[in-house]
Amino acid sequence: MTAPLLSVRDLRVDLKTRIGTLHAVRGISFDVARGETLCIVGESGCGKSMTSLALMDLLPRVAKRSASGLTFDGQDMMRPRVAEKLRGRRMAMIFQEPMTALNPAFTIGDQMVEAYLFHVGGSRAAAVDRAAQMLEKVGIGSARSRLGQYPHQLSGGLRQRVMIAMALMTEPELLIADEPTTALDVTIQAQILRLLKDLQRELGLAIIFITHDLGLVSRIADRVVVMYAGAVVEEGSAAEIFEAPAHPYTCALIDCIPQPGKTERGAHLGTIPGVVPSLIGRQEGCAFRDRCALSEAVCARPVPVRGHGSHHWACIREVAA
Ligand SMILES: Nc1ncnc2c1ncn2[C@@H]1O[C@H](COP(=O)(O)OP(=O)(O)O)[C@@H](O)[C@H]1O
Ligand code: SF4
Ligand SMILES: [Mg+2]
Repeated sequence: MTAPLLSVRDLRVDLKTRIGTLHAVRGISFDVARGETLCIVGESGCGKSMTSLALMDLLPRVAKRSASGLTFDGQDMMRPRVAEKLRGRRMAMIFQEPMTALNPAFTIGDQMVEAYLFHVGGSRAAAVDRAAQMLEKVGIGSARSRLGQYPHQLSGGLRQRVMIAMALMTEPELLIADEPTTALDVTIQAQILRLLKDLQRELGLAIIFITHDLGLVSRIADRVVVMYAGAVVEEGSAAEIFEAPAHPYTCALIDCIPQPGKTERGAHLGTIPGVVPSLIGRQEGCAFRDRCALSEAVCARPVPVRGHGSHHWACIREVAA
C-alpha cells in the first residue's frame, strides 16, 4: 500500500474562552491518498473549519492544535514553519466566501501573480501567462482582460472560480475546500463541483471537501468522514456510507437529503431534533445521545469503535442503525 499524502492522527484543537476550554476538535484521525476526494461532513459547529485551519496551521491565535501525528508526504507538519512552507505551494485552501481571501484593492491578475512570484518565483511575464492559463482552465473566458478586473466586478460564482484558479496556480497536491459552494445558488454550485472533479482528474489533485450537506458529498466523495461535536463518528468509502450507514447520526443526515424521484416537491424532509452540544469541557459518553432515537443508558459510558476494513463507527450498536 502506498503511503498517504496526508496523515492525521489524534488531532486536537482547544480554544481558551472566558467560561472554560472549548475542545473544538477532539482527537480525530484520517488519511488522504493522492488524487482522492475525502469529504468531511457534519452540521454547523461540529469542528470542520477548525480541522481545516489546524491542517494548514492557520488557526486563530486563541486556538492551539496538538496531534500525535500530522504528516504531508512524510514531512512532519507539527514542526514549526513546515505547514507554512507547504501552504500556498503544495497545499492550498478555498473558502465559502472568496472575498475573505481576495483583496478588494487589487486586480485579480495582481493577486494571482504576486502570490505565484512569492511562492514559486520566475519572471512576471511568465506568472501573468500562467494566471491567464489558469483562468481559462476554470472556465473563465477573455482571461487576459479579466486579469485587470477587481473582485467586486465579478459575480459570486466567478469569484469562486478565480479563488480556485488562484489556489491551483502553484500546482498543489492537496486542495482543502471549506464549504466552497455554500454561498452559491444550485446551478452555479453544480458547475463548481463539476469543475473541481475535472481539475482533480486532470491534475491528480487530492481534495478535502468540507460541507454540512451530505447531498453534495454523495456527488463527489471517494471517502467520507462524518464529524459530530468535534469527533469522527463514522468513516468509510462513499459506497459504505451511503449504502450501509452504521452510525445513527449518519443515518439522520442521510434522512435529510431529498431523494430524486422519491421525495415529493415541497415534502417535509427529516430534520434532526435538537442542536449540537456545547464543545466546552469534557464529553462523557456518546455526544449524540441527547438527540439519538436509539440511545440507551449505556450510551453515557465510553463508546466503542466498531467496524471492519475501511469502514468504522463509534456507537454501542454493532450493526447498521
Ligand atoms: N474564534 C473562535 N472563538 C471561539 N470559539 C470558536 C471560534 N471559532 C469557532 N469556534 C467554536 O468552535 C467550534 C467549532 O467550530 P467550527 O470548526 O467553525 O465548526 P464548523 O466548521 O463545523 O461549523 C464551535 O463550537 C464554534 O462555536
Ligand atoms: S452510542 Fe447510543 S446514543 Fe450514541 S449514536 Fe449509538 S445508540 Fe445513539
Ligand atoms: Mg465551518
